Amino acid sequence: VFQSSQAAVAKLAAETAELIRANDAAGKQTVLGLATGGTPIAYYNELIRLHQQDGLTFATVTSFNLDEYAGLPKDHVESYWHFMHQNLFNHIDIKPENINLPSGTVATADIPAHCAEYEQAIVDAGGLDLQILGIGRTGHIGFNEPGSPKDSLTRAIELDPITREDAAPSFGGIDNVPTTAITMGCGTILNARRIVLMAWGEGKASIVNEAVTGTVNDIVSASYLQEHCNSVFFLDTAAASILE
Ligand code: F6R
Repeated sequence: VFQSSQAAVAKLAAETAELIRANDAAGKQTVLGLATGGTPIAYYNELIRLHQQDGLTFATVTSFNLDEYAGLPKDHVESYWHFMHQNLFNHIDIKPENINLPSGTVATADIPAHCAEYEQAIVDAGGLDLQILGIGRTGHIGFNEPGSPKDSLTRAIELDPITREDAAPSFGGIDNVPTTAITMGCGTILNARRIVLMAWGEGKASIVNEAVTGTVNDIVSASYLQEHCNSVFFLDTAAASILE
């Protein structure tokens, strides 16, 4: 628990830089699992600052994003492809060929093959060193909505009405919010060697409490993190205020 989200992201960005530099020194790639949404923006800003002011290079980083809305082309302003380029990739030296996100425009019939390829690409890269997460009001990590099994893999998923409601303002109304997405599964996430979930503000306090202190169950997919040996929540005091 940190006094402010800024203090938390500074710590997480420093940890990320240390990981990348240690792997660089050992001649190894670093594989990052990345999230979108409001929560990680300050973390990405800090990574950009470390790149611009502190010489941190992302030339040896491969990234895999958690999810993408179905039906949105890369250049759609609300696509996660667009979000990641706007908020991080355009400002650092990551190689375009090392950037991976699920495709929002793959034909329905080809989605299972696309998801299997995404899983294989993570394996081929050596697995996720560090997975960054936010948490949704439904307790989702990625878009693993209530009912997602612990061993689920990358797949298409129907978005919960609460998740669509939360996305409505940026889409100019709920009718414009896609109904489905492609998401890494809980099993994909839990295979990461380290997992950091960030949450800020009072609005997240109740679901954070359920995820951390509740029973592990498939309604709150973030509760599965209790069973991971190297997973941690980075919270500001408001998000931690209900923790029992
Ligand atoms: C984003 C993602 C989601 C978000 C969650 C919280 O790629 O997979 O799980 O992390 O919905 O969103 P924000 O940060 O906007 O509150």
